[in-house]
Amino acid sequence: MASLEPDNNTTFLAIGDVHGHWDCVIEAIAMAEAILGKVPDLVLQVGDAEPHRNEEDLAGCHTPKKYRSLGDFSALRQGDIRSPLYFIGGNHEPYVALDALPGPFPAPWGDDLSVYYLGRAGATMLENRLKVAWLSGISSPNADPGTRSESLRARTYFSREEVATTLHEASRLGEIDVLLTHDWPSDMRVGRGNDSTRDLIEAIRPTLHLCGHMHAGFEGTIGTTIVNALNAVPPATKKQGRERFGWWRLYERDESGGIRCLEVGR
Ligand SMILES: [Fe+2]
Repeated sequence: MASLEPDNNTTFLAIGDVHGHWDCVIEAIAMAEAILGKVPDLVLQVGDAEPHRNEEDLAGCHTPKKYRSLGDFSALRQGDIRSPLYFIGGNHEPYVALDALPGPFPAPWGDDLSVYYLGRAGATMLENRLKVAWLSGISSPNADPGTRSESLRARTYFSREEVATTLHEASRLGEIDVLLTHDWPSDMRVGRGNDSTRDLIEAIRPTLHLCGHMHAGFEGTIGTTIVNALNAVPPATKKQGRERFGWWRLYERDESGGIRCLEVGR
């Protein structure tokens, strides 16, 4: 059998919690370009992107005062994000503005930036290349958060209905390449993750599961699913410098559906 032409394959970059440091997104895409000789076909971001367009967005984000910062998303201009970027919501996100988006999802976010919000829950084919399912938010400490109230904290939780939506839409789409959630599945490391995410992985059986939230790089498996947790991006201002294992990962999906990691950012 003839080997596949590289152009038949899909390349995608995964990025961890951005927390408003969008200069790191630009940097990661440039690193991927240096490896591939072209920019990746798309970028997936695992939540806590904090893409604040203005102070009003920031006011609608649940964040402790000491971490409250506008970040540099509002300074981005058309062409700065050179591969289409799709993000889910984490637990620090401008949810008041995101929840007000009328859809359909994925919905453009920011002015002509090639940045798209995937919404609370769903599954679709992205860029005609990759079947992706997602669930925004984190697990509620209560057994069932019920109806989401208007409080900023309550908006950070996913609901049972949204978990069901992800499962339903993923089943309709067929075999899923990537499942995106913010939090980890339970039982990967003691005291981390939630059962809803593990249940989703076991039911959907995506080729790859990507998550963030814990600000730690991690590699594991659940059944046949590769589980990769991404570290948070390393802001230039941090004292620990820019060494941070797994803040981005570059992948290639071949035509048979196999996904392999080409490089890990550190
Ligand atoms: Fe985070």
